[in-house]
Amino acid sequence: MKISFAKPGLPGSGAVVVPVLEGRTLSALGAELDERTGGALGRAMAASRFEGKKDQSLTILAPANLGLSRVLLLGLGKAAEIDEARAQAFGAAAVANLASATDEEAAILSDVIDGNGLGSATFAAHAAFGARLRGYRFDKYRTKEKPEDKPALKKLVIQAEDHKEAKALFAPLNAVAEGVELTRNVVSEPANVIHPESFADEARKLADLGVDVEVLNEKQMKKLGMGALLGVGQGSERESQLVIMRWMGADKDNEAPVAFVGKGVTFDTGGISIKPAAGMEDMKFDMAGAGCVLGLMKALAGRKARVNAVGIMGLVENMPSGNAQRPGDVVTSMSGQTIEVINTDAEGRLVLADALWYCQDRFKPKVMIDLATLTGAIIISLGSEHAGLFCNDDDLAAKLMEAGQKSGETVWRMPMGDSYDKQIRSDIADMKNTGGREAGSITAAQFLKRFVKDVPWAHIDIAGTAWTKKDLTVTPKGATGFGVRLLDRLVADHYEDR
Ligand code: BES
Ligand code: MN
Ligand code: ZN
Repeated sequence: MKISFAKPGLPGSGAVVVPVLEGRTLSALGAELDERTGGALGRAMAASRFEGKKDQSLTILAPANLGLSRVLLLGLGKAAEIDEARAQAFGAAAVANLASATDEEAAILSDVIDGNGLGSATFAAHAAFGARLRGYRFDKYRTKEKPEDKPALKKLVIQAEDHKEAKALFAPLNAVAEGVELTRNVVSEPANVIHPESFADEARKLADLGVDVEVLNEKQMKKLGMGALLGVGQGSERESQLVIMRWMGADKDNEAPVAFVGKGVTFDTGGISIKPAAGMEDMKFDMAGAGCVLGLMKALAGRKARVNAVGIMGLVENMPSGNAQRPGDVVTSMSGQTIEVINTDAEGRLVLADALWYCQDRFKPKVMIDLATLTGAIIISLGSEHAGLFCNDDDLAAKLMEAGQKSGETVWRMPMGDSYDKQIRSDIADMKNTGGREAGSITAAQFLKRFVKDVPWAHIDIAGTAWTKKDLTVTPKGATGFGVRLLDRLVADHYEDR
């Protein structure tokens, strides 16, 4: 779907989308449409109890005298409550509602939307952002889908008085959308396609945008002493990889970077502590943390963010085999700390232990944030409404919670504390990799904390938010791309040169 911006005006064909404020207030062009149809819009709204409340929609097919195939009325709610999120939801609703229509072209008549001081250009840009995010489809493996079952919409024109400004405002949002789409793509790919080496190849493609990409193989990681990460990948035919991406966009090259570290288990069978068969296919998404880091780097580079950012992905496949790590094995991490592997299915923390250590050791970041589909327990705690936030720094936690509110990718802070450490005490090594059923997400975070030095650090458990089984406002069901918008927002608000 191609998105463009244009001056307001009534088109003579195709579909049009009309925003309606609560109380059935039509925009100027909406009112003109109503007049030209002899009041059909007003009558249709009254007859169907359409008030213009947010999320309400009403389609009027082939209205007389217009040449249009349909008029889609979308409720925006109260003018004073219109913000970026509402604009995004509006654009998304337009695409979702037109998905089953036959129109290849649609125009959004957002001519006088200027709610809450947002400005019509900003409204249009965010509507475009929402439309693009909601219009995503991962359909490359559907070879037999009939054309009539696919969305027909090819061209979406968003009208705004200052359409040039809208276009300019959309450019960085479009870069973020491209990052989100990359994340969704790699997370959607099955594990026979995305494995550590092919995932690293995806990262190498970011070189086109000016991202510096390095890939460490098993031999190099062994030399660095990454026994924790390597132990997880040891049962797999695929070679583990550590990918290091750097985007140096700050004014000063020697400015300490912000660092992002992602769990990239391209498939998690559980290893010798094998998972039950039912639902195991979902574990292709166990690399969503790394997927987010990849998409985020693409977003930052794509919009030329004025920040130095490092993205690290620990890529492994967790398989059972004659060569796999066993429960009871003791591994030595790069930090020198030893770990008793009680359960080979608690593998994400082992991967992150070495990736986090390497990150700090080499880059001395000013802040470090990891993302991981780390625990089933976080789904029990928070469902899919919030990701779990674990943080050693109140200021960073506050920034992340605010970025979550603004971006719509919300996080909820969970407690940490030394009192949980007794759950991961080992009789034979410095720690064990599981802490029992109680507070499973917290003991996992306490485990990670042992690999964090004196740096503001946040761990975001995205096990409940990286995938959705139902359509969400700006996210069709499937891989969500969670974290890209959140962290892009964090960087934009707090870590960029101005
Ligand atoms: N990748 C899983 C966590 C997960 C489970 C994500 C379900 C999404 C949905 C992780 O590697 C894992 O297996 N964790 C175990 C830890 C346990 C063995 C301590 C879990 O959550 O059960
Ligand atoms: Mn696991
Ligand atoms: Zn896992």
